Amino acid sequence: MKNYVGKKINTAIFISGTGTNMKNLIKFSNEKKSPISVKLVISSNKNAKGLIYASHKKIENYFFNFKNFKNTEKKILRILNKKKIKLICLAGFMRILSPNFIKHFKGIILNIHPSLLPKYKGLDTHKRALENREKFSGCTVHFVNSKLDSGKIILQKKIKIFKKDNMFTLKKRIQKEEYKLYPRAIKKVIN
Ligand code: GRF
Repeated sequence: MKNYVGKKINTAIFISGTGTNMKNLIKFSNEKKSPISVKLVISSNKNAKGLIYASHKKIENYFFNFKNFKNTEKKILRILNKKKIKLICLAGFMRILSPNFIKHFKGIILNIHPSLLPKYKGLDTHKRALENREKFSGCTVHFVNSKLDSGKIILQKKIKIFKKDNMFTLKKRIQKEEYKLYPRAIKKVIN
């Protein structure tokens, strides 16, 4: 984003679940030197814990069930425009945004994925990596395009898979890295 000159970029975070990355990004945005300001949280899950946290932090937040996908995306685009959002961070968001949405959003969309893309796109990444006896896994922040987990890679962090690892331990170690990687990737894109 070339026209960033000291002013924080209005940012929206899209979630579907716990929202630990969301929480981490909100903390990051509250740092004095952070290039982003989180103004909006959108959830596709009514019971997402992240919504409670967003309300607690007085960040405008909405739940959409996406039953009428086209209509929902239209509504979201309107909110994004109104709030002058220039950056969307997907963080555990379990929907694939349509090409139409991506085309009409005038800004950047990023996603974090818990694998070393292009390996293990989609769900159950840790399970598949362990089943395939991979020696390494990690996480990736990438630009979002209309294909699942396929946009240009911004940053990746590689970690070793230990013999004693299971899905739970691997997920935990990778998430710890995600909390560092997402802010770094945002800085890289914005500065
Ligand atoms: C993260 O592992 C992220 O990589 C993936 O979904 C998970 C979301 O976790 N896209 P949380 O809701 O941020 O805790």
